[in-house]
Amino acid sequence: MLKVTARAHTNIALIKYWGKADQQLILPANSSVSLTLDRFYADTTVGFTDQPGPDRFVLDGRLQDAAATHRVHAFLDLVRQQAHIHGAARVSSTNHVPNAAGLASSSSAFAALALAASRAAGLSLDPTALSRLARRGSGSATRSIFGGTVIWHRGTDDASSFAEPVTTAPNLDLRMVAILIDAQQKDVSSRNGMARTVATSPYFPVFTATAERDSQAMVAALAAGDLEQIGELTERSALMMHGATLAAQPPFTYFAPATLAAWAVVRAVRAGGLPAYVTMDAGPNVKVLTDATHVDAVVAGLRAQLDNELVVCAPGPAARILTTTEE
Ligand code: DP6
Repeated sequence: MLKVTARAHTNIALIKYWGKADQQLILPANSSVSLTLDRFYADTTVGFTDQPGPDRFVLDGRLQDAAATHRVHAFLDLVRQQAHIHGAARVSSTNHVPNAAGLASSSSAFAALALAASRAAGLSLDPTALSRLARRGSGSATRSIFGGTVIWHRGTDDASSFAEPVTTAPNLDLRMVAILIDAQQKDVSSRNGMARTVATSPYFPVFTATAERDSQAMVAALAAGDLEQIGELTERSALMMHGATLAAQPPFTYFAPATLAAWAVVRAVRAGGLPAYVTMDAGPNVKVLTDATHVDAVVAGLRAQLDNELVVCAPGPAARILTTTEE
């Protein structure tokens, strides 16, 4: 059996994907832009046996039951179809996150799985084809095939919906500081949360139209190295996404009280003259966008007022193969 291990890094959206135009193909309602991070990643090993049968999926050392394996199994079926093979898969995945507080992500998980499984199945996909494949596992995984700043073009069909790197100005060196906040209650999954938002939130059309325009504006701001514009667009996209969840039926939010408290501290740090801009995803953690020049001062400003664990991230690399072994 050919066993392939791949590593893919988590990305955080600067312009959010929060709604599908096609649930089956995972085509997004709007394009989105992200930053791949160095500190958070998944390592995934895949091998295919010669015989059909149930796939085996071990996550962080624990064998997963049929329900937990279902999404991985459905994804592996796509790989088997493309490669014209039928054997059951052996999958083992480890999340590398400094602390388990909601930082393990489907973006790194499905990007690593797409790369490892396609290679183990004998396919040699180019980055665009890999990005399209990863998309079928989880939308945000489309972007984790690439390092640094990335745009996911929403596209109109399976062939045209993929990600690619975005060129940034040479002087731009982004940093993202994750402020870890304990989840008190179980989150609504991003899959269910965005479906509810699309179906019921009157703010969704405004969110998605703005995100489409802002994705283009973000590409221009990254090329120009305009940190203020990058930061303002980042905050607006996150807050519009979270505004749209508040207006859904039934309404919901990922914000915990500590999320608002951390956001207030970031505003104070910015009022003190430092570039620091928030973004939040489908959980209570707050991430602060800044650059390499200012990150130490931003961290000092946050530490002065917050007890939370902080993780400073730089841009991370593209998904890659770590090992290939024949057993
Ligand atoms: C808030 O990629 O987890 O992180 O496509 O249903 O698997 P599915 O959703 P997922 O959603 C990510 C939502 C987000 C914003 C983003 O990454 O753009």
